[in-house]
Amino acid sequence: MSGLYRACLRPLLFAADAERVHVATLRAAGVLGRSALGRRLISARYGFDDERLHVQVGGLRFPNPVALPAGFDKNGVATEALAALGFGAIDVGSVSARPSAGNPERPRLHRLPADEGIAVFYGVPNDGAAAVAARLAGVRLPVPLGLSLVETNTGRPAGVDEVIAELVQAARTVLPVADYLALNLNCPNSAGGFSHFDVPAHLRRLLQALAEVDGLGPVFVRVSPPAHPAGIDAVLQALDPFDFVKGLSFFDPRFDLRRRLKTPAAELAAKRGSVSAPVALSHTQALVREWYRRIDRRRLVLIGVGGITTAEDAYRTIRLGASLVQVYTALVYQGPGVVREIKRGLAQRLARDGFASVAEAVGVDNRAAVPR
Ligand SMILES: Cc1cc2nc3c(=O)[nH]c(=O)nc-3n(C[C@H](O)[C@H](O)[C@H](O)COP(=O)(O)O)c2cc1C
Repeated sequence: MSGLYRACLRPLLFAADAERVHVATLRAAGVLGRSALGRRLISARYGFDDERLHVQVGGLRFPNPVALPAGFDKNGVATEALAALGFGAIDVGSVSARPSAGNPERPRLHRLPADEGIAVFYGVPNDGAAAVAARLAGVRLPVPLGLSLVETNTGRPAGVDEVIAELVQAARTVLPVADYLALNLNCPNSAGGFSHFDVPAHLRRLLQALAEVDGLGPVFVRVSPPAHPAGIDAVLQALDPFDFVKGLSFFDPRFDLRRRLKTPAAELAAKRGSVSAPVALSHTQALVREWYRRIDRRRLVLIGVGGITTAEDAYRTIRLGASLVQVYTALVYQGPGVVREIKRGLAQRLARDGFASVAEAVGVDNRAAVPR
């Protein structure tokens, strides 16, 4: 199917404006996923299950470790189809306390075909936490549903207290429909593009405020990784008192992906925004390797995200220390069959190497890691 998608469907989709295709794809998937027949058709075509792939993290059961990160289904309109497609978990969002139209620029989503990448300058448009929670209220998925939270992009930077109050409000609003929360604490395309929560004391204050929220479930935090080990330890210390924090993923604003692309500089200059592309993989794996050595592995897991496009990428990232991986851009370039391909390849590799589960493979190539 991947070949058919690349040869036939992708050229058609890529001929149209990227944001319109994104919206139209979600709308079509939403319609298909709403009917039991539609979901059956999708899983008959794309489903793949293997016991080895089952993962338990933060008290949640994931049927496989290949999850969809935030940014694809921003408003929770197609979760049923995406679950039928075979993702092990789905992050809806990022969603903010108040609705936002995102950045006013158009176009604000660009393909970078020479790099199989995407440049995004959406600025987290979303319907707002209340509307998204209402939409998801009746939805029952066979996989964990995460709600990714972000500050509202108003076009101007907000103070840390205001952002904390907003994130807490958004958390309260979506909790009834979420199996877990994912905190997007460093959105590169939001006002000012900086994060208060790079300051560990601010992160701690945010988590203290969240700790007061009734019924809070597992929380995963997307942090910007500090450059030095002492900075990493400061982040980990800030998280330490809060046992509802179950895992970490990374977005590294210091890593200049643009410099590593094949896309000509002149073409790139016209495409503003944060870049996702397979060339990010080595950095993703370096982060997983480094953080796995420093986290308390009895209570935290790592989620590998950025540049994962194949089963081998996913497997290597798991062997370096990730318990889950997330895949977005590969879905756009390889089509819906990529989820099954990665899962099948993962199951084959686990069997080949004598692992009965993903958990057994996590971190085996990170031998310098001190057992914790
Ligand atoms: C179009 C687009 C929109 C995104 N929006 C969000 C978002 O709202 N929140 C977020 O945390 N990450 C967002 N991301 C980042 C993805 O979650 C993911 O971290 C990134 O694309 C790297 O993974 P990939 O290499 O598999 O694409 C977005 C990415 C893309 C391409």
